Amino acid sequence: MIDLGPLKGCLPVFAPGSVWLVGAGPGDPGLLTVAALSALQTAEIVIYDALITDEILSLVPDRTALEFAGKRGGKPSACQPDITKRLIELARAGRRVLRLKGGDPFVFGRGGEEALALAAAHVPYRVVPGITAGIGGLAAAHIPLTTRATNHAVVLMTGHLASGCMDEIDWRPWAATGAPIVLYMAIANLHSIVGGLVAAGMAEETPAAVIANASRADQRVLVTALGRLECDARQSGFSAPAIVVIGSIVEIRGALLRHGLPAAEIV
Ligand SMILES: C[S@@+](CC[C@H](N)C(=O)[O-])C[C@H]1O[C@@H](n2cnc3c(N)ncnc32)[C@H](O)[C@@H]1O
Repeated sequence: MIDLGPLKGCLPVFAPGSVWLVGAGPGDPGLLTVAALSALQTAEIVIYDALITDEILSLVPDRTALEFAGKRGGKPSACQPDITKRLIELARAGRRVLRLKGGDPFVFGRGGEEALALAAAHVPYRVVPGITAGIGGLAAAHIPLTTRATNHAVVLMTGHLASGCMDEIDWRPWAATGAPIVLYMAIANLHSIVGGLVAAGMAEETPAAVIANASRADQRVLVTALGRLECDARQSGFSAPAIVVIGSIVEIRGALLRHGLPAAEIV
């Protein structure tokens, strides 16, 4: 147990019969919030997703029950209605239930859907925000999300639709903003994403990067250009979890790396 000392008095009480949707950040336990750490030490049961690292799970006390509810290696995974049903059941049984999600629960993490289901079932819940991979992952890779010289906005997008068909997306409005595009869950759909953006008028020379396992010991960063993104990511063996960044902010990394402390492995 990590002693949170005087901070304890500033933190909300984890009441029995409630569910906390907690963001674990991109994986480095140092990026957990104090509220998340306190909740991990107080919960009676932790229901966690596939992106939660062993380092973070090791912070859960031995007395606390751990249940896996994520997708792993093509094996059958718990479906969303079963997960929300379980959260509701456990809360109604009077337990302190912690639903632990990678990054921020409300960013491409179905935390919104789970909160809606809890609210509909009249189950008291709280959301503990986490550092989302599309923000913290860029910082970990020495890519600033904004600078005054490059961009006044950022587009955070999913690279995977529930329908499975990225060709449904009209890329023109997104390409037209000129803002950097930060894509989650995009690795399997790079062909369609790159094709769509180039067809929408984005130059093939636009700087691009892939950040895999951001903030973790096995973080890898690939810097390339939009036109070579798919080929370079495949040849370098990049796989999920990874964030894809497209835009001129990627170029700033070169200057920052000179004195920035290095990530574990840089391609
Ligand atoms: C289902 S989404 C969940 C996003 C999460 N709620 C968040 O806010 O970061 C999963 C995707 O998040 C991204 N992701 C999460 N953790 C990551 C990490 N440590 N490094 C790179 N990408 C990550 C990847 O694109 C991954 O496929």
